[in-house]
Amino acid sequence: MSADDDTWVHGLDARQRAMLAEMGVKVWAPKAAPVGADAPAPAQAPARAPAPPTPSATEPAAPPARPRPPTASSPAPVPAEAAARPHTSRADVAAMDWPALREAVAQCRACGLCQSRRNTVFGVGDTQADWMIVGEAPGENEDRQGEPFVGAAGQLLDAMLRACGRARTSEETARGVYIANVLKCRPPANRNPAPEEVQQCEPFLARQVALVQPRLIIAMGRFAVQSLLQTTEPIGRLRGRVHRYEGVPVIVTYHPAYLLRTPADKAKAWADLCLAMDQ
Ligand code: URA
Repeated sequence: MSADDDTWVHGLDARQRAMLAEMGVKVWAPKAAPVGADAPAPAQAPARAPAPPTPSATEPAAPPARPRPPTASSPAPVPAEAAARPHTSRADVAAMDWPALREAVAQCRACGLCQSRRNTVFGVGDTQADWMIVGEAPGENEDRQGEPFVGAAGQLLDAMLRACGRARTSEETARGVYIANVLKCRPPANRNPAPEEVQQCEPFLARQVALVQPRLIIAMGRFAVQSLLQTTEPIGRLRGRVHRYEGVPVIVTYHPAYLLRTPADKAKAWADLCLAMDQ
């Protein structure tokens, strides 16, 4: 067997194998070991990761540099119409509890996305989860329903989480996660988030992380990576190792929407999830 997107998976239970199949990651199991051979790895053991990541022509292109949050010496330019919009200060957001934060997001008019949104999309899941998933921005379905990852990419995300024994909320058989996006409002026609939109929304995500206090963050896609890690390095060069956001370990992986377009990279995403499970 030589296909690049086949993953050698060892010691997974039937459920995880079914979920991997749902992710589109083909699972190859070795023949039963002869009696007396080494015992198989425990069910939670990660699959062997594919070869170290290399930049690839199929990876999403590196985006233009995202400005860092303004500092005293380098204030970010604020467009005139944005300056006129009501705006909650970063310090105010940093002091909010969950209800206040949810309300601040719902009322936010800090950037132009408030004019085209139907709903703000705050976040979902277990607010005490040890894993936090950070995506990009709501799409059409999310904008309509006010919940992150409810479209096709969300179905793949759910399958990825299931493969790790996780779900949106804690269940008997799965541990919960908390899911949030970099942007809380849908960019029109699903265009990429603009740097100033990411910058305006960043305090909300920062506060969500501070309130959840996750043990691990999984950053999915380049905008999550840019916002959390302040880098424009491509995902292919960042994945495979542990980064930090405010001291919290961050695993970088591909966005589920990208994986739907590029299924050959699902095996790499599975390796990233294995790295996450190892932390
Ligand atoms: N893609 C995202 O990054 N977030 C969503 O909520 C939906 C699609």
